[in-house]
Amino acid sequence: MSIVYDKASGLISLHTRRSTYQMKADELGFLLHVHYGGRLADADDLSGQLCLVDRGLCGNPYECGRDRREYSLDVLPQEYPCFGTGDFRTAALHVRSADGSRAAQLRFAGCRTEKGKYALEGLPALYGDEAEAESLIVTLRDPASALEVELQYGVLEDLDVICRSARIVNRGDGPVVLEKAASFCLDWPFGKFDWLTFHGRHAMERNMTRQGLRHGVQSVGCARGASSHQYNPFSILCAPDATETAGECWGACFVYSGEFLMEAELDQVDQTRLVCSIHPDDFAWTLAPGESFQTPEAILAYSDRGLGGLSRVFHRAIREHICRGPWRDRRRPVLLNDWEATYFDFTGDKLVSIAQKAAELGMELFVMDDGWFGRREDDNGGLGDWYPNEEKLGCTLRELAGRINALGLDFGIWFEPEAVSEDSGLYKTHPDWAVRVPGRDPCLARNQLVLDFSRRDVQDHIIGELSGILAGAPISYVKWDMNRSICDKFTASLPPERQGEFAHRYVLGLYRVLEELTAAFPQVLFEGCSGGGGRFDAGMLYYTPQIWCSDNTDPINRLDIQYGTSFCYPACTMGSHVSAAPNHQTGRTTPLSTRGCVAMAGCFGYELDVTRLSPAEQAEVRGQIACFRQYADLIRLGDHYRLRAPEEGCAVWEFAAPDGSEALVQAVYTRVEANPVPVHIRVRGLRPDSRYRVEPAGPVPAGDGAPDRGWSPLPAVLSGAALERSGLTLPPPRREHQSWQIHIRLCP
Ligand code: DGJ
Repeated sequence: MSIVYDKASGLISLHTRRSTYQMKADELGFLLHVHYGGRLADADDLSGQLCLVDRGLCGNPYECGRDRREYSLDVLPQEYPCFGTGDFRTAALHVRSADGSRAAQLRFAGCRTEKGKYALEGLPALYGDEAEAESLIVTLRDPASALEVELQYGVLEDLDVICRSARIVNRGDGPVVLEKAASFCLDWPFGKFDWLTFHGRHAMERNMTRQGLRHGVQSVGCARGASSHQYNPFSILCAPDATETAGECWGACFVYSGEFLMEAELDQVDQTRLVCSIHPDDFAWTLAPGESFQTPEAILAYSDRGLGGLSRVFHRAIREHICRGPWRDRRRPVLLNDWEATYFDFTGDKLVSIAQKAAELGMELFVMDDGWFGRREDDNGGLGDWYPNEEKLGCTLRELAGRINALGLDFGIWFEPEAVSEDSGLYKTHPDWAVRVPGRDPCLARNQLVLDFSRRDVQDHIIGELSGILAGAPISYVKWDMNRSICDKFTASLPPERQGEFAHRYVLGLYRVLEELTAAFPQVLFEGCSGGGGRFDAGMLYYTPQIWCSDNTDPINRLDIQYGTSFCYPACTMGSHVSAAPNHQTGRTTPLSTRGCVAMAGCFGYELDVTRLSPAEQAEVRGQIACFRQYADLIRLGDHYRLRAPEEGCAVWEFAAPDGSEALVQAVYTRVEANPVPVHIRVRGLRPDSRYRVEPAGPVPAGDGAPDRGWSPLPAVLSGAALERSGLTLPPPRREHQSWQIHIRLCP
């Protein structure tokens, strides 16, 4: 049993394969957090570790009376602490009652278990059937206000994760306003931690930062209407000595695509608290009597096998229990996207000539990006009018798709459904559908406005428009883009006192539209995008099993971006393309082999005018595609090991078959020096007692691949033990940004 509740003591333990999460409803009825860490025995009760000491000026619950018992919510670890009643740390719940008071205090009122993983209506959530998951629902109640909170815990024992969410119900007879409703609070009564967060900007997303926690509250989050380029809704707390391969780590992944806040607090007695919520700055949700509010979900995981071990838990959880639909388990097509090949400057014939070359080279899908519809000649207008510009295409959309199909390629298309331009027919007909504050000029970004997705009529319109296009032509792929942050938040559909619901209602609307479209067109592969990776989160991955990782296609920058992304998200979710050299974002020239190597560590594709490739480059592209096909399953399903970070002068990573039968090591030199210090790596995930053949993988580009200086360690035959304990020395670089791919397979 993965959930054990001892009614007599109030102790609840949730067990996964390698972790235990423990809480206790104490004699005053408070639900205290006891432990989240290594797996315990059922009989282990760690609540004795909670230290009751009078801390001075830390208040006591009323019923303690003269017997203060050194009991204070201000220092006790809790499952769902409330603002206003004696815990002065970061709270999970802030409420405003009808009388204006802002206090709540929750007491344990019972719990129940359910088979299978609970689902959340209208929200993405990790899924698991009765054989895979059990759920615990703990009911807490505020005796004074009749507010009820159901804490939901999904326990996936084999997957090694625990999911958390909360449902807040107003059982009173007056309205209550939720000002903050966290998805979880996690307390550590002792221990020192580093905090790993992932910050960035457009075209440079998810840079990892690791910092020791200091006293006070530190946070990451955003109120831009989306999870954002700036901070990813994922973070890790780990022991200061944790490495890639060893040490205790705890990860929290918010399954949400909107505004969020993750707060880490080191308190006065060196206890640590992590709280994750919809961003409260932009949130105020009114609950009328009887109404409830469901928070988004967070996935929690613990690993004592270092950061790499933790990442692999999240990779599996996202790949197998967040991503859905037929594309979850299929190799994704090698695509050619025309964006960096043509931008807005194309005709139907030009696209077909690029597609023809793409087909000759072995690609499988042609994607027509921005510029095919309405009066969209550049990125200043036309958004919202989702009818093909037949004059520009020289034919109907169906005919164009047919011409592409005739080349042996599938056909895909770009949309930006959440946006609208002021010069569009849609805006002229429905100016009130654009998000803006009445009487105030709206803030423009890329000269566009945002459609009010919190409105049902807007959602229905977009579902209708996109359904018409998808049903009207053989379209097998959709790139769902969104190219601005949301401000001027206001919706005509809500009264003044409920405008604080807009940001979350927008996300709920987005999820509804995506749910309807993906259900109606299950065979269509949807790729998420938001100016690249501005909404790269587990919420979007529930609907779109891959996301364009970044608008930056420079392979050297991509190493950092994909490295940071890999802490939570598996390679099979990262859209990654080979583009032209010099690169359009950085001006840097890199070898085609390196661009191929980096793009292969994701959903592989091309984004350049392939008609301009030299014969030698074309041959190399053919070889890259053949190589990718050979290793696609290993990359998609293999265990991902980060062997060296890009900042170490040579980025190295590996995909190992879960059964240890083979591995692919990919390496890119990010720095080249005279008289180089050898780069040495230990290969992971192999069978120690088996023998492996180690050889270069991938096409050997002319003048690029063979090591010089008369030295090469490859090919070799070595045992798994030797490859893990001693390892491999990589051939030194002959020139800047050289890459290596090494295939390791069991000897027959
Ligand atoms: C931003 C995306 O990230 C790009 O790949 C491209 O689709 C453009 N939008 C098109 O406007």
